[in-house]
Amino acid sequence: MIRNKLLSDIFYGTELEKIASGTQSIRKILLNSDPSFERVDWSQIEEIVKNYFQQRLKGQFGGPITAGDAFFMAAYMAAFRPASIIEVGIASGISSSFMLFAAEKLELLSHHRIFLHSVDLFLKHPKFNTEIGRVVWMNFPNLQQYWKAYLGETLADVAINRRDEIVSNDGPTLAFIDANHLHPWPLVDLVAASTLVPSGSWVMLQDTQVMERWLANCVEQKVPCPRPCRGVNFVSTLWPGKKIIGTEMCFNMASVQLDQSDEGLEEFVRTCMSYPSEAGPRQLAQVKNYLEQFGTTALDRTGQERVRE
Ligand SMILES: C[S@@+](CC[C@H](N)C(=O)[O-])C[C@H]1O[C@@H](n2cnc3c(N)ncnc32)[C@H](O)[C@@H]1O
Repeated sequence: MIRNKLLSDIFYGTELEKIASGTQSIRKILLNSDPSFERVDWSQIEEIVKNYFQQRLKGQFGGPITAGDAFFMAAYMAAFRPASIIEVGIASGISSSFMLFAAEKLELLSHHRIFLHSVDLFLKHPKFNTEIGRVVWMNFPNLQQYWKAYLGETLADVAINRRDEIVSNDGPTLAFIDANHLHPWPLVDLVAASTLVPSGSWVMLQDTQVMERWLANCVEQKVPCPRPCRGVNFVSTLWPGKKIIGTEMCFNMASVQLDQSDEGLEEFVRTCMSYPSEAGPRQLAQVKNYLEQFGTTALDRTGQERVRE
């Protein structure tokens, strides 16, 4: 909740009391984007988001999704009714537990089937020294059976080494990315996700406007703004195919449809990589290595580095 009057005319995403009025435009945009949204019961989505975010959840930390983000995500779940979802970026597990919670309400869960595959680089969060994903088992122990966490790995590691554990008849047909936002990490996450879901699937991206969020935080807390972090913004705005850019309460979300040929994807990678890296040289080398393993050759000509590590 923003208290600073200088920020009173912008959405932050947490305004649960405005969930109806603050999501009107995105409903129309989604309805225009794909006929699957015609089956969404918008009042049910509002209820799901309200019921989840009104709870006092134990164990939260580390940049969780907001109610506005959740509305966008639940709309995709209701429209496309995935058998399972692949997620990267768990932290305390707000997005993970929200997707499991929404899946139960939308009747997407099925016994003995993993609904959510979630990946995170850490087992314990390095800043908070607490277990990754603990919100799930601390608050929703009954939903844990539908969840599989892959900890200590990137999504690219999982896509390269453990693809068979994920891709199946009940494999993911929807993806959610909320991990490292520094360019070009969201790019490699998107390319990795594209190897785990069928073509034509949608990938939801969180923190597309993280700089707007950070600027608001800095005005609120009267602290300097960190260096730019626009990786998610780059991949969503540069995506050459069908995409949705969130607005109002959902301003910090976007989604792209994996509708590109290999050549289109390669051109997209090349374009993204022509933007200066926000990650340091070691991480940039790691990203290039992953992209090479995925068969995108576009990288040799690119990648101006910004020394930061
Ligand atoms: C913003 S937090 C995710 C918040 C979470 N989605 C939620 O709603 O609670 C980002 C998470 O991504 C993880 N992360 C950072 N870089 C990563 C990478 N390259 N691969 C996988 N996970 C990564 C971090 O450990 C952190 O837990």
